[in-house]
Amino acid sequence: MAQVGLNTDNRPWWRDAVIYQVYVRSFADANGDGEGDLRGVRERLPYLAELGVDAIWLNPFYRSPMADGGYDVADPCDVDPMFGELADADALIAAAHEVGIRVIVDIVPNHSSDQHPWFQAALAGDEAMRERYHFKPGKGENGELPPNNWPATFGGPAWHRTTNADGTPGDWYLHLFAPEQPDLNWEHPAVHAEYLRILRFWLDRGVDGFRIDVAHGMVKVPGLPDVPPEAARDTHGYYQLPYYDQDTVHDIHREWRALVNTYDGDRILCGEAWAPSLERLALYTRPDELHQAFNFHYLMTPWDGLKLRQVIDASLTTAGSATATWVLANHDVTRVASRYGEGEQGLRRARAGALLTLALPGVAYVYQGDELGLPEVTDLPEESLQDPIWENSQHTQRGRDGCRVPIPWSGAEPPFGFSPEGAQASWLPVPERFKRLSVEAQTDDPDSTLTLYRELLRLRRALPQFGDGTLTWLPSEPGTLIFSRGDGKVGVAVNTTDAPVRLPEGLEPLLTSVPDAVTRPDAAEGEDAGLLLAPDSAIWWRGSGVDAR
Ligand code: NOJ
Repeated sequence: MAQVGLNTDNRPWWRDAVIYQVYVRSFADANGDGEGDLRGVRERLPYLAELGVDAIWLNPFYRSPMADGGYDVADPCDVDPMFGELADADALIAAAHEVGIRVIVDIVPNHSSDQHPWFQAALAGDEAMRERYHFKPGKGENGELPPNNWPATFGGPAWHRTTNADGTPGDWYLHLFAPEQPDLNWEHPAVHAEYLRILRFWLDRGVDGFRIDVAHGMVKVPGLPDVPPEAARDTHGYYQLPYYDQDTVHDIHREWRALVNTYDGDRILCGEAWAPSLERLALYTRPDELHQAFNFHYLMTPWDGLKLRQVIDASLTTAGSATATWVLANHDVTRVASRYGEGEQGLRRARAGALLTLALPGVAYVYQGDELGLPEVTDLPEESLQDPIWENSQHTQRGRDGCRVPIPWSGAEPPFGFSPEGAQASWLPVPERFKRLSVEAQTDDPDSTLTLYRELLRLRRALPQFGDGTLTWLPSEPGTLIFSRGDGKVGVAVNTTDAPVRLPEGLEPLLTSVPDAVTRPDAAEGEDAGLLLAPDSAIWWRGSGVDAR
């Protein structure tokens, strides 16, 4: 590997890495079946190396019936034929390491697939296996009502009724997500032992860490009581849900951290923890727990200078000495270029948002395709929709497929190089309008989003002030964020308003989010007057007289 363990200045790599999320099914299809695969990722490593990422996080590629895009795992120690075989995972890990890219894989501990051998045995009546899940008799005269009032994330109740061998209705089992994803019972020691085995399996194969799915789940309040009524909201307006963010879930993370610490090479744990507050989120990154926990409070903040500043401040304060983990998008949320606004305005803001995010102290995750400025695809044909949300909501919510459309690489026809010539249709159709957003179309364009990201990541590596360290706010006009990093000689300025704003004197652009981001005021206004920063744009700056390049 190009770098192992500590950075040259003794910072652990994961404190300020740029980690690129690969949604394997939609990244690159090497075998022509219309589905992305592990070989496809391996073949595109040169692209990722050129982009300048430090690590990749791979969404689940394990054996799965794909009821929830692979988050319904039937065998976590094998590769689904859709994605290749175990040897492809080994080859990808080795090839990534050769080009200095670390590999983080997903682990899914809250639930298994209903096709997992444990659950199949449980359904067949094996008592020992039933105890590893949450089976309960129903309420009502004949057990016809779910055991409690918990809702499933994907719609409907979080309980599914089983059928006994003689055809009569049986007990219910808990599934916080789709019915095909039964929740595991983490009070059972066998569940703990099994997950330590899975972690070791992948650590021994050389992975550099894990992204933990539903890291705030797993532990449920004993007895599985009902969700309390409105009145039980705390002073922040949050429910204390009986199935999320329980204090004892941290014991599991400590158990895993202790295991990961026995491995060399600075392996990491990153939690997908939807904690109700930044204070609760910070508990996940205590020194003996996870290295990182996604900051979804930042992700959910709208394009509003004041709100962004508030969430940044609160995030850094609550994180304390832990690293902050910035994320603008992933495979579960609307693409940032569509979330921040519509059309060109959304993209313009997303580009400025990238400058802001990548200038913040901490680690940053980049979702595949955001470096191309891909928008959400809102017009996928209904028959192509695969997200369980579509079915489970009785076709009232289209779900998350719109941010999972295959990456356009090259060429003039869909799927734009995602699959080889003559391949089967891609699993989700790639819209015609993605042609001008393909990697090929953007590569030699100095103003493209891809060129911007490449330059951002190059500069972030070249300038040690970016990444881990301190942030100092500079005075700025309303709706504008300006801060310096480290020694104060470089920083970022962002204008979230719809009018130009004047920057303090002496800031020179290092990099601009769009070509028209800065204008110099008329000479008549005096030589020293600060630059004007255009609406919805940002710059990385250096103080004049400082040779930051
Ligand atoms: C979070 C994952 O990111 C999402 O895609 C999945 O549906 C749920 N967890 C359930 O595993």
